Amino acid sequence: MSDAPEITPEAVESAVAAALEAIGAAATTAELKAARAAHVAEGSPLAVLNASMRQVAPEHKATFGKLIGQGRGQVTKALDAKEAELAEAETAARLEAERVDITAVSTRTRVGARHPLPLLQEEISDIFVSMGWEVAEGPELEHEWYNFDALNLDPDHPARQMQDTFYVDPTSRHLVMRTQTSPVQMRTMLDRDVPIYIVSPGRVFRTDEYDATHLPVFTQVEGLVVDKGITMAHLKGTLDHLARQLFGAEAKTRLRTNFFPFTEPSAEFDLWHPTFKGGARWIEWGGCGVVNPNVLRAAGIDPEEYSGFAFGIGVERGLMFRSDVQDMRDMAEGDIRFSEQFGMVV
Ligand code: DAH
Repeated sequence: MSDAPEITPEAVESAVAAALEAIGAAATTAELKAARAAHVAEGSPLAVLNASMRQVAPEHKATFGKLIGQGRGQVTKALDAKEAELAEAETAARLEAERVDITAVSTRTRVGARHPLPLLQEEISDIFVSMGWEVAEGPELEHEWYNFDALNLDPDHPARQMQDTFYVDPTSRHLVMRTQTSPVQMRTMLDRDVPIYIVSPGRVFRTDEYDATHLPVFTQVEGLVVDKGITMAHLKGTLDHLARQLFGAEAKTRLRTNFFPFTEPSAEFDLWHPTFKGGARWIEWGGCGVVNPNVLRAAGIDPEEYSGFAFGIGVERGLMFRSDVQDMRDMAEGDIRFSEQFGMVV
């Protein structure tokens, strides 16, 4: 072992100092591991010095042994202390990084969405409420008198069969699932004083097919105005306003003559918009007219003094054309993915 370093106090001190410095400088357990390999493990200056003890003359063994023993003890102690310190710091850092803020709003909670039909129904009502109209309600299970007779549809009227109504047992009670929101007209006229400006949204029931353009349960919004000097022009202006509010400034309506027993004259009204799917075109949207004097009389309103207009629109059709829904059944089936496309509008 001719190349073994000479054991001198300086050699031991400098090896210990180098080891302590490296240990002190280690900022991670990986660096500490490297310091241990370089300054403590086999082959390190300190280990080599220790091994050279064998060559030390017996009379110096005790002195040098003590010197090296103390140096190694110091280094081991520093190593252990550093190791504990780093482990603690690293654990603290990991805990901090993995910390769960139990007060934070969880992103796993699914954001719900309201169904677009009631949303559109509310939007339509709001358009009228902002003009000072009121929202009126009527029952879905209705007396035949309100649904038909009061609206000038006598028992033999073909519309009574045409609408293929759901009658409710026992039929002697004359209760039907209402086929239209129009019965709210008579309920309102009997309930409230003139002038009347109301809209009434709600579900109606018919034994219709269940297909892309028909539902046996669907939604209408009824409108009724009774005041002095009301004409068809007010009706047309109101429908145009509604169309523009819902579909944009370019929307237009047109009236086509038709027959409804509770209005005279009566019309079917169509809606036009340049961006409808399939190009600018007219689509049928509802029925309307000037309130038949017989209906006013049945409600105890003098038709010589008051006149009115009424309309009924289909909300599903409105949604189809406004939001380009191809199949009405999507509105009925309750698949959350359908509603979600309309966002969380409140
Ligand atoms: N109730 C009619 C229907 O369901 C629509 C309707 C037509 C309503 C004319 C009205 C009206 O208020 O005046 O087919």
